[in-house]
Amino acid sequence: MDTNNKIKENVKQKYGQIAKGELKLEVTPSSCCSCGSNDGKVVFDMSAQYKDSDRAAIPDGADLGLGCGTPAAYADLVEGMTVLDLGSGAGIDCFVASKHVGSTGKVIGVDMTEEMLSKANENKKKINAANVEFRFGEIETLPVDTNSVDRVISNCVINLVPDKQKAFSEIYRVLKLNGKFTVSDIVVDGVISEKERQDAALWAGCVSGALSRNEYIGIIDKVGFNNINIVSEKKYDYKLESGGGLYSFTVTGTK
Ligand SMILES: C[S@@+](CC[C@H](N)C(=O)[O-])C[C@H]1O[C@@H](n2cnc3c(N)ncnc32)[C@H](O)[C@@H]1O
Repeated sequence: MDTNNKIKENVKQKYGQIAKGELKLEVTPSSCCSCGSNDGKVVFDMSAQYKDSDRAAIPDGADLGLGCGTPAAYADLVEGMTVLDLGSGAGIDCFVASKHVGSTGKVIGVDMTEEMLSKANENKKKINAANVEFRFGEIETLPVDTNSVDRVISNCVINLVPDKQKAFSEIYRVLKLNGKFTVSDIVVDGVISEKERQDAALWAGCVSGALSRNEYIGIIDKVGFNNINIVSEKKYDYKLESGGGLYSFTVTGTK
């Protein structure tokens, strides 16, 4: 198995366990000199919350605290749109989008972890979200037709994908002309050490696969998107081994 596939298998295994409630996502900085703890076991939380009116659309069990932004809130969703959520997890962002696009719209969530899809489908039943469909698949080869969706959203997932250019090329392929993506993700402003890159728990914890803001925007630009904008940003109290910082941002672009 090559390195990229090993990384993905580890991610799949970890998120499978999280979906079944057997594992809690705990991000513990490997360099913890300023975390304010005696034992260095500070658990770092990057989750973000939707405003109350959007939260009302989220059934119990769909927010596993795995997101790092609120992409649906910046996606300019209107009734009748088709929305695709990449790495949909237990479905949180799909259910928010579902409320905005209504019964004439459609939301497709794609995830590569079977246990997450089961959880998402259980959650869908709880609120009878007829306009939401969860599909098994990988972001690098999306099970979605070319030029078929109005919006792509994603919450704290693309950092987990080893080939980010392939991910954004797929986003470009499936979007209709003038369609828009809104992606919340983790970026860094320092160097991720080899030790951090090799740390399987830190990969699954959305740290080791993160790029710098410039590298990230560079990929989006290279793929051909227009109107690239960072619409929100948050700095975390987390230090990489190199001393660099960790951020979440929400970036948008149009085809
Ligand atoms: C950090 S969780 C975020 C889940 C959800 N977006 C949320 O905010 O709760 C990452 C999710 O992305 C999925 N994932 C990671 N890499 C993927 C890939 N290459 N293709 C499809 N799904 C992927 C994982 O299975 C997991 O459910």
